[in-house]
Amino acid sequence: MGENLLDIENLSVIYRTDDAYIYAVNGVDMSVKNGETLGLVGETGAGKTTAALAIMKLLPERIGIVKSGKITLAGIDITRATEHEMEAIRGNAVSMIFQDPMTSLNPTITVGRQIAEVLQLHEKGKSHGEISRSVDEMMELVGIPPHRKNEYPHQFSGGMKQRIVIAIALACKPKLLIADEPTTALDVTIQDQVLEMMNDLKERLGTSMILITHDLGVVAQTCDRVSIMYAGEIIESGGVEEIFDGKKRHPYTSGLFGSIPNIKIAARRLNPIDGLMPDPASLPAGCGFFERCPKKMASCGQKPPLFAARGGGHVIRCWLYGGDARQGDGSWAL
Ligand SMILES: Nc1ncnc2c1ncn2[C@@H]1O[C@H](COP(=O)(O)OP(=O)(O)OP(=O)(O)O)[C@@H](O)[C@H]1O
Ligand SMILES: [Mg+2]
Repeated sequence: MGENLLDIENLSVIYRTDDAYIYAVNGVDMSVKNGETLGLVGETGAGKTTAALAIMKLLPERIGIVKSGKITLAGIDITRATEHEMEAIRGNAVSMIFQDPMTSLNPTITVGRQIAEVLQLHEKGKSHGEISRSVDEMMELVGIPPHRKNEYPHQFSGGMKQRIVIAIALACKPKLLIADEPTTALDVTIQDQVLEMMNDLKERLGTSMILITHDLGVVAQTCDRVSIMYAGEIIESGGVEEIFDGKKRHPYTSGLFGSIPNIKIAARRLNPIDGLMPDPASLPAGCGFFERCPKKMASCGQKPPLFAARGGGHVIRCWLYGGDARQGDGSWAL
């Protein structure tokens, strides 16, 4: 396998608001290999978008602060890059489809021009004719007839708008595409079409991808590996087969899958798990899932590290898979 395109080590991000520090991302390690798709899964508020914004270096200024960590993308240390350097890195090395794609299109500019603007910014020196041909190519690539390039976003359906957003993100053929819930706003049939198209593009362009989603069905369809986030931490990570076969799972992951262990009939939506994620302004010292966990035990008062669940890089942050969770008399502390 190729070397890692993206390496994140011990990333922590806080948001500094008027009355609190929000611990949104806490000591995250993550990597993406060339050509690989990593699914980043977790319920609302887990820190998925925050981690993505840190990679893009687009955290809100003065509010979102990287407290620790190193992010290396295509050999470049993002954490040290200046804004000027980032302007070149965004688009060329990494590009992001934002969580609310419908608002990322400018309603007053034709879709063709919006694609052309990205190309002009990153491929300086190209003639007008060359840019125009690249726009046609990109529209064809995402399955929209190029003759519609002079139309405005409102003239396209939701699924088509999403394809255009993808075309814009891919226009400069980035090495890494971060797609933040790219299909959530779409109905199921269109969702499948867009995912199929993204898979196809990934194969053709060799793009690596981080796919952020709540939807385990989407993960099964698209990802090579999965990282599951909870309260700002990766609580489980592994190959898609290992995560889906369910032989060893974090109790939170088990909750996500509900009682359906089969990859073919995996739940499309996360089953609700009783209780709430801890307040990111005051996280517990021990395991963040403790309050909701059906398998909690005495040792969970201490934060578990990621334990190797078996070979192939499958790791689980739970004392069930490491240390000794038994009490002095040998019984399990449940
Ligand atoms: N600009 C901000 N200022 C303060 N807190 C923020 C800001 N953006 C996000 N947060 C907080 O950081 C935490 C992580 O948010 P984030 O958007 O990364 O979650 P997420 O996993 O992407 O959730 P979702 O699935 O709902 O998109 C949440 O508690 C959120 O309220
Ligand atoms: Mg988000």
